[in-house]
Amino acid sequence: MTRLVLRGRVLSFRRAPEGPHDLSACLWEEDGAVAVSDGLIADCGAFSAVCRPDDEIADHRPHLILPGFIDPHIHMPQTQVVASWAAELLDWLNDHTFPAEAAFADPDHAARISGAFCDELIRHGTTTAVAYCSSHAASAEALFAAAEARGMCMVAGKTLMDRNAPQGVLDTAQSGYDDSMALIARWHGRGRALYAITPRFAITSSPAQLEAAGALAAEHPDCLVQTHLSENREEIRFTGELYPDAPDYFGIYERYGLTGPRSLFGHCIHLSDRERAAMAESGSVAVFCPTSNLFLGSGLFDAEGLAQAGVRQAIATDIGGGTSWSMLRTLDEGRKVLQLQGQRLDPLASFHRITLGNAEALGLASRIGTLDPGTEADLAVLDSAATPAMALRRERVESLADELFLIQTLGDDRAVAETYVGGVQFKGRI
Ligand code: GUN
Ligand code: ZN
Repeated sequence: MTRLVLRGRVLSFRRAPEGPHDLSACLWEEDGAVAVSDGLIADCGAFSAVCRPDDEIADHRPHLILPGFIDPHIHMPQTQVVASWAAELLDWLNDHTFPAEAAFADPDHAARISGAFCDELIRHGTTTAVAYCSSHAASAEALFAAAEARGMCMVAGKTLMDRNAPQGVLDTAQSGYDDSMALIARWHGRGRALYAITPRFAITSSPAQLEAAGALAAEHPDCLVQTHLSENREEIRFTGELYPDAPDYFGIYERYGLTGPRSLFGHCIHLSDRERAAMAESGSVAVFCPTSNLFLGSGLFDAEGLAQAGVRQAIATDIGGGTSWSMLRTLDEGRKVLQLQGQRLDPLASFHRITLGNAEALGLASRIGTLDPGTEADLAVLDSAATPAMALRRERVESLADELFLIQTLGDDRAVAETYVGGVQFKGRI
């Protein structure tokens, strides 16, 4: 079988860099190649070492070839909610988000938006997402089908929400459990699909529903769990009122068995020391959503404090609270959030975060997030001179880190020259 060999400047991470100049954390080949066969990476290294006489070659020089980006927190039914004005989180949910999500009871609408959602991710170089669907099982069906049609690794779940929202987006503790069970049976582990048990947050789930979500998690320990935690002051106050016996917000999720190494908690901005320690102890993941936190005025994610407490982390767009589909824009805004707190995010650490770092947060690093042979062939081809301004800045680039920083700071979907999903060239076809 003919292999496809992508030629370019190849960058992949072996581990988290230990400083801004720690190139030993990377596989970096100036004249590099990635060989792809049967949807998997067959080989990766210097072009002269990888290429065989009968290989088909896709020459991407002088572009960079990286693992496809991973977005570990995004809402598919908010594809049309992005850029909707509101004062803060709870108004934004009530005024824009819940009404838009109600429309996903219609399977045709769910199919159309799911297709557009996957295409938009791919256009931005994102090859795996962990996505919330609406509360309608049909929306999860539609998203898994759209991802499967494109060969994408998609982690998703039907949102569980049985109170404090309009009728059109509510399920019940029982129907949410039953629908999730059926979706897990149908999709979890089918092709590249994985299921995430998805209680939206404690405000919209009754104790009975969180109990049911915990039962699902216990019955399916290899599924992921995703929810929101400690994003906004008013949200935290209302949550405390609804769960008066809980020690704090994270304690609610602990009480119902929803924490642990496969649990992703969006936002995690206003946490107490006890919550940080409990998150670390359980191996739970805090997901930084910078463009969303800035857009909704939610607060500044304390990456250093969480790291010192030993909390695992990931970084994500949170479309449609987030304002960009681009993981490059997300890194740029994330760095600014950290700068405001005297914290630093250097370019190597940035690109580690959106590839191997996020893959590790999902427990999927043996499959995605690197260019290691045997892993799935999801790749992003990056052009650091994609716009006239980028091209001018590149004339003065002095190192790989400098070039990565240029891409992160000035780049967006235009900097993604091509995306490969499961070894198939995609962006040019969208
Ligand atoms: N908290 C509960 N639901 C949501 C949501 O859809 N977006 C954000 N940003 N926070 C939430
Ligand atoms: Zn969210």
